[in-house]
Amino acid sequence: MTFLWGAASSAFQIEGALDADGRGPSIWDDFAGERGETGAVACDHYNRWHEDLDLLTELGLNAYRFSLAWPRIFPDGRRLERRGLDHYDRVLDALLERGIEPVVTLYHWDLPAALDWRLNETVERFADYAQTCFAAYGDRVRWWVTINEPWIVGVLGYQLGIHAPGIRDLRASVEVMHNLLLAHARATEALGDRGHAGIAYSLFPHDAEGPDDVEAAHLSDGYVNRWFLDASLNGSYPADVRALYEDRVGPLDLGGDTRGGDFVAVNYYTRRVIRAAPGHEPFPWDVVTPAGVELTDGGWEVAPGALTSLLLRLKHDYGNVPVIVAENGCIVDEPLHDDRRTAFLHAHVAAVQAAREQGVDVRGYFHWSLLDNFEWALGYKPRFGLVHVDYETQARTIKDSGRAYRRLIEESA
Ligand code: FCB
Repeated sequence: MTFLWGAASSAFQIEGALDADGRGPSIWDDFAGERGETGAVACDHYNRWHEDLDLLTELGLNAYRFSLAWPRIFPDGRRLERRGLDHYDRVLDALLERGIEPVVTLYHWDLPAALDWRLNETVERFADYAQTCFAAYGDRVRWWVTINEPWIVGVLGYQLGIHAPGIRDLRASVEVMHNLLLAHARATEALGDRGHAGIAYSLFPHDAEGPDDVEAAHLSDGYVNRWFLDASLNGSYPADVRALYEDRVGPLDLGGDTRGGDFVAVNYYTRRVIRAAPGHEPFPWDVVTPAGVELTDGGWEVAPGALTSLLLRLKHDYGNVPVIVAENGCIVDEPLHDDRRTAFLHAHVAAVQAAREQGVDVRGYFHWSLLDNFEWALGYKPRFGLVHVDYETQARTIKDSGRAYRRLIEESA
């Protein structure tokens, strides 16, 4: 099988054109984060998608991960909008014409504003939406990612309130994450053997700061990683984390089947180093940054070795489940000559190769992101792209890292 070399994006972060072709509002439309910016224009990709697909070719990629905007296809969560469906039809055809394998995410955070993940009914609406997309595009899409990062949705959107819809309620966040996992399971069941389906998890390998922090690190790992991996791959939640939640919010009703998928999409950015903090609410640990480590301009440690161990752990703990690294990238403030992104890319691709050499079934690597884009609560300042976007003129310029990626792919062939 050909290894998938790609870049990743998501609809709301690049498309803009929020009123075009009958699109309905999403929970993100009016949610201005800490910089007061929105996705109203973003990279104007809805109008410029054709030239943006040319960039994929220029970068020498054979795959592209992108998301469908649910509110373009079901503007109020219920009524089908043909123009939205047709838009992605054209995008898929254009990708295949270029010999690029689409990896399609169904839900990358732009929930139709009429829906609410706290309600079980949204699981039904998602199952309908997924069915519609499988029927419309299933002849051309082999790789589906159902839900992007349920932990981030739960924590930032419903526990801390810094992502849409801005709710602060620990109990609601656990219930939402559960509904997202149920939605994933329903979609994979609906797909059957018509393609590959996986869920994208934001996995953060854990290390204890010192010998006294091992227990706290294990529990935090449960909160961030095991909760989700166990749910979708084994069909049950880890007892230690469930006890922690129930201690904080009371008994939880987490019924229904969360199991599903035939691969895991791993989004990897950094590791977490944990210091025990007994008595801290809601959780008894702190995340610390060790002195002297290399940081991205977003303040996250550059830790490629932890990616290798993460992939080995998936193989060891979850029976060598196939994996796609569906996001990996860094904020680097260097506009075009982004040597630190190039170094980051090389180090992380090498980390993936090391895991493959040790038998991990990795099917692809997708760099986040194709373009500089709308980084949610942080707005447009953080730049993740292999391609620079001038937001005044919407001009695109391939960065040095994009060229380096092309060479790396050519050399790996
Ligand atoms: C991930 C998100 C993606 C992007 C990157 C930087 O958590 O999936 O949309 O924001 O982080």
